[in-house]
Amino acid sequence: MPDHDTISARISPACPAATQRVLTAAWAHDVAAVKALLDGPDKARVQDPATGETPLHAAIRACGAPADDDDDAADLDAARKTVRELLMWGAIWNDVDDRNETPGCVARRLGRAALYALCVEAGVRAEMLFGLLGGYEELDSGEEEEGDEEEGDEEYMEVDAPTGADAEAVVVNAEDGDEAPELVDIEGRGQNGAVQEEEGEARFQPPADDTAVDVNSEAYLRSNLTYSDGKLVDDDGNGVMMAWETDIMRQSVDALLPGKEPGKRILNIGFGMGIIDTMFAETKPARHHVIEAHPGVLEHIASPTSKFGKTWEESGPEPGAFRICRGKWQEVCQQLLEEGQIYDAIYFDTFGEDYSQLKMFFTEFIPGLLDSDGVFGFFNGLGADRLICYDVYTKVAELHLADAGMDVDWRVIDVDMSKLAEAGKDEWEGVKRRYWTLDKYRLPVCTFLG
Ligand SMILES: C[S@@+](CC[C@H](N)C(=O)[O-])C[C@H]1O[C@@H](n2cnc3c(N)ncnc32)[C@H](O)[C@@H]1O
Repeated sequence: MPDHDTISARISPACPAATQRVLTAAWAHDVAAVKALLDGPDKARVQDPATGETPLHAAIRACGAPADDDDDAADLDAARKTVRELLMWGAIWNDVDDRNETPGCVARRLGRAALYALCVEAGVRAEMLFGLLGGYEELDSGEEEEGDEEEGDEEYMEVDAPTGADAEAVVVNAEDGDEAPELVDIEGRGQNGAVQEEEGEARFQPPADDTAVDVNSEAYLRSNLTYSDGKLVDDDGNGVMMAWETDIMRQSVDALLPGKEPGKRILNIGFGMGIIDTMFAETKPARHHVIEAHPGVLEHIASPTSKFGKTWEESGPEPGAFRICRGKWQEVCQQLLEEGQIYDAIYFDTFGEDYSQLKMFFTEFIPGLLDSDGVFGFFNGLGADRLICYDVYTKVAELHLADAGMDVDWRVIDVDMSKLAEAGKDEWEGVKRRYWTLDKYRLPVCTFLG
């Protein structure tokens, strides 16, 4: 076990005795002692003030890397029971420690897939519950993971949806008046949400992240944008769209328009650099509508060098077939519904909006705008700066899509990380925050169920 993963390194001399007791019992996988010590959710959420170690970190870290013997199997079983117990008492799945690792990050680093899966399930339950309660909190994934893991070593673990019983257990907790599990909000490419302040005693403060993105839709739509070589950034230096995403856009078009037959009806939400719209236009659609709200982007679209100005609008097979719909999709889509517009392919990729907006789009607008045989896709960047957050949001989106009557096929595609590995360098030069850290992209291909 590396020095930094030992119990003496993790439970600091500054740790209050009561916290120490919980951490030690969790580390020892002493379920009976853990049970006896947890008489309220606050106890499961304690953190060593110096290392940020939580009981969940301790229970997982104590396992170390897998060994091939019976002791390991027995210990893993005890660890699972401990983790479950802690989660039942409201342990927070995504608290970060002083090494910027959540308990799930520790499980993944150690190769403990079963424990990682428990953390993902807890994250999914928390997000689903907060969705039901009407809000999404911050998924604190704004910092790069430390550790000796090489870029590209991510192991993608299959995670099942929470069972009905598990989901119910969380809701029952909430009804009892216990605090719901900490919600997380997801950061992605300009995607974030409201941060819920923790009440009560001072907690471990993770190292400040001065690259954290605090974008909201209204502020973004008022910001000045700069188109420069290979990127579109706002005046705070946030990457709105970047050329390295071209392959993702290409593969999204291939998935939405298999065979790329001409004459399709296409709706794209969010013009950005016009990468996907250029590809859509090349398929010779019968209808191509683009919704864009930012005045700077609209100015760029109308400029003489743009391929999507007036001449393009007038080149459609019939009046209104090729159209830039100016305004927020939340309003424009309502008009499109009223006009009775139906599309074969719809792509959604905005900036500065949180997951609730994407969910609202596919729940409230897709059923009316997408043909029954049509395909819907979106840029799947939520939580993409930390694998566990990406895994949680893949599952959450899948569950919500099913609620909205849609099936999703995730196509896993490789992302070439050679020029994306280091913040501030190569592709990230001039961009405030490295919003993508994963070597695999899960491309959603959504169709109506049945
Ligand atoms: C990431 S870019 C889209 C990139 C595009 N897929 C491409 O291939 O270049 C996001 C775009 O969505 C636009 N946008 C953000 N919020 C919007 C909203 N509520 N309604 C319409 N457009 C919005 C932004 O101004 C920006 O142009």
